Amino acid sequence: MCGIVGHIGHKNSVHVVLEGLKRLEYRGYDSSGVCFKNEFGNLTLFKKTGKLHNLKNLLRGVNLSSNSCVGHTRWATHGVVNDQNSHPHLNDTISIVHNGIIENAAEVKKDLISEGLQFKSDTDSEVFLGLVHYSVRQGMSLFDAVSRSFEKVQGNSAFVIQEKSSNQILAIKRGAPLVCGLNFKTNEVMVSSDPYALVGMVDQIFFPEDEVVCCLTGEKDKPITFYEKNGELSERYVSKKQECGLEPQEKGEFEHYMLKEIHEQPGLIRFLEEYYFLGAGKEVLKNVENEKPSRIQLNACGTAYYAGLVIRNFIESINRIPVSAELASEFRYRDPIFQESDLGLFISQSGETADTLAALNLCVERKVKTYSLVNVEGSTLSRLCDQNLFIKAGVEIGVASTKAFTQQVLTGRIMAESLKGTPSYGELRTKFSLLAHRLEVLLSQVDKIKKIAEEIYNYKGFFFTGRGQYFPIALEGALKLKEIAYVHAEGYAAGELKHGPIALIDEEMVNVAIIGPELLEKAVSNVEEIKARRGVIVILGPKDRKDLEALSDHYIPLNFDGLEELSPIYVNVANQLLSYYMAKFKGTDIDKPRNLAKSVTVE
Ligand code: G6P
Repeated sequence: MCGIVGHIGHKNSVHVVLEGLKRLEYRGYDSSGVCFKNEFGNLTLFKKTGKLHNLKNLLRGVNLSSNSCVGHTRWATHGVVNDQNSHPHLNDTISIVHNGIIENAAEVKKDLISEGLQFKSDTDSEVFLGLVHYSVRQGMSLFDAVSRSFEKVQGNSAFVIQEKSSNQILAIKRGAPLVCGLNFKTNEVMVSSDPYALVGMVDQIFFPEDEVVCCLTGEKDKPITFYEKNGELSERYVSKKQECGLEPQEKGEFEHYMLKEIHEQPGLIRFLEEYYFLGAGKEVLKNVENEKPSRIQLNACGTAYYAGLVIRNFIESINRIPVSAELASEFRYRDPIFQESDLGLFISQSGETADTLAALNLCVERKVKTYSLVNVEGSTLSRLCDQNLFIKAGVEIGVASTKAFTQQVLTGRIMAESLKGTPSYGELRTKFSLLAHRLEVLLSQVDKIKKIAEEIYNYKGFFFTGRGQYFPIALEGALKLKEIAYVHAEGYAAGELKHGPIALIDEEMVNVAIIGPELLEKAVSNVEEIKARRGVIVILGPKDRKDLEALSDHYIPLNFDGLEELSPIYVNVANQLLSYYMAKFKGTDIDKPRNLAKSVTVE
């Protein structure tokens, strides 16, 4: 969702902010902008729809020397995508950027209009600027104006506010990510919606809690201070050394980050194995070995949810612990029944997904113990859960999640092993090694998948089908295709097709049938039913099966030997490649698909 970067420094603020916005590009956006104090001490605004280079073009020839700048990448919620609705929003003396949604914007706007205020955009964000502006006009300090205004807006949001007269930037949030940073040598200070923007720029990072006002000045004695809204000093923030280095973010030999990330998977599986069975992760597993939950409430969104469905199968069959797996966006508005000794399990790449965090809060309120399977260390999810099992996927740039899925499922499998109490990690390590090896083989033979992609990418619609442990893979396969190739695809339990969707099958529809060793004969019967109705058949199935080859129009043979349990991940990588190449033939923006955001921080 929207990306925020603010900086106070020494003439270099605009450059630092632009670099930060560039790093946040991977999250998805539709416009960008910066507002900075120019050489005459005035706030000056530049914003533009489209990619960051449009903004950079606008800045060509402009004197960018500035000590204070705020910038933004917008992912539209209220108001269409146009220059005016882009952020920052500025009146003469105050500028703001916003990530989130102001739920009572219409009401507040009406009141402000009746007080004579005018609005330039259709956004909810400008309403906050209106509130702050109005209060300052009434004589309040910027601090008080921001604190009071924040109390008047409902919904989850983060705001960064810059004022012309004072050399400070204020920031405040509720239920949305926000991080501040300080460089000890230069006293430069930063604020962002994503720690990734701060890497290499600051030495110390600070995560404020909700409703804390962060005051950034960059002054020697008080570069950054945290306050409660009543003006008292606040200790409600976590401070830590900025440790993680900038991982190599180049695409290298790959045309897209997504392809690079698909290819990283064998290496990451080996890394995960080392981390948990030989490295620092061992300590975490000891804690898991002592857990005795009577039931697990698993919550996640998107790809992470599908990973959760695979993990549910693992835990139920290995540990015989019932797992209720739910979409966090649904769970949060139900009135779920909690029992004593339930365990809340939250799966997320970013650790910032608003719905997942809301589901977590529900568990925290009910005093349920919470675990995460999360990638971003230091994310809100990781800070709020009782125990984190990091999935160690590295930075995932492609909006469509690939390597995070694999690492989530495998970390979930490790968790299931630990929950046994008397785990046999040795056997699991062998399975991990075999999976990494099989993926390497698959990735060295992509030409066949590419050729199939070329032949099918123009069909009308796609049904991904699977049974048992391959059903979640069918769901994930269809999601991947929708996300990056913009074609209609549905994931379906193969046995359910005849209860409706089979009416859609004709020669313009493709069935991507995922057939593994489990329930093979039954899955084959389901394919026969589609074939009889002239659907185009792509089978991802066990190698050396002449019958499957004959049944299909396109056959992707896979070597499942010895891999049965982890085979969902193996097939999923084949699916990832199929979607990738179909999108490539369609010529879509694979790494940043339209309308999508990497980290969905609003409901
Ligand atoms: C967005 C992303 C998906 C991701 C989902 C959940 O929709 O585009 O790739 O699966 O959010 O995100 P999380 O960070 O919680 O895994």
